Amino acid sequence: MRPVSIVPSVLPADFARLGEECAALEAAGVDRIQWDVMDGVFVPNLTFGPDVVAACRKHCSVPFEAHLMVVDPDPTLERWVDAGCELLIVHAESVRHLHRTLARVREVGASAGVALNPATPPSAVEHVLDLVDMVLVMTVDPGFGGQAYLSSMEPKIAEVRRLIDERALDVDVEVDGGIGPDTVGGAAAAGANVLVAGSALYRDPDGLAHAVTDLRQRAEAAQTA
Ligand code: DX5
Repeated sequence: MRPVSIVPSVLPADFARLGEECAALEAAGVDRIQWDVMDGVFVPNLTFGPDVVAACRKHCSVPFEAHLMVVDPDPTLERWVDAGCELLIVHAESVRHLHRTLARVREVGASAGVALNPATPPSAVEHVLDLVDMVLVMTVDPGFGGQAYLSSMEPKIAEVRRLIDERALDVDVEVDGGIGPDTVGGAAAAGANVLVAGSALYRDPDGLAHAVTDLRQRAEAAQTA
């Protein structure tokens, strides 16, 4: 079993106080923080650039990952590393030369992740699994928080996990979109060990720390069920 990681999306956070929000997430026990980078083209929404991430870097020490929902990630890869991101996730659908882009991510000193939109099959990344540290299976169509979890992605999560394991690679499987108390078990049982959650963390009446612990316990229980 791969260790479970709980990774918040900052999309539901108060953008006027992002530094403090990052510190609060760290205090709540998260393992990493995901920055949802949207360019208004690859997805129909716009969020933030590397300068915002850099400004928040000094407010916490928990690792950052950048989920690059942009049409052309190559020119800005170094900017995200300079801003303090340790892991860069590019979408398989966003680049012409995925093999080259993933190799470039490692060249600029980051860990590499590759993301699959719901309609994209695992075969799209089968031949670059040796170049990544993580595969992100989107469980919603990217662009917005608060959407419903696509349980139809669970066979795909299992297929990605199988492709990785049959090659004996040290690669995590992350899921993102609609993850909460009622859905995290299905994703973890299918093979995901890194769980991104946005609205479910911020709507927990018992607070962030309770939400993080609850998701982690449910995922770990599902892994061993
Ligand atoms: C959507 C983003 C997700 C989203 C998750 O495109 O990639 O990270 O913010 O939010 P919830 O957990 O609310 O679906």
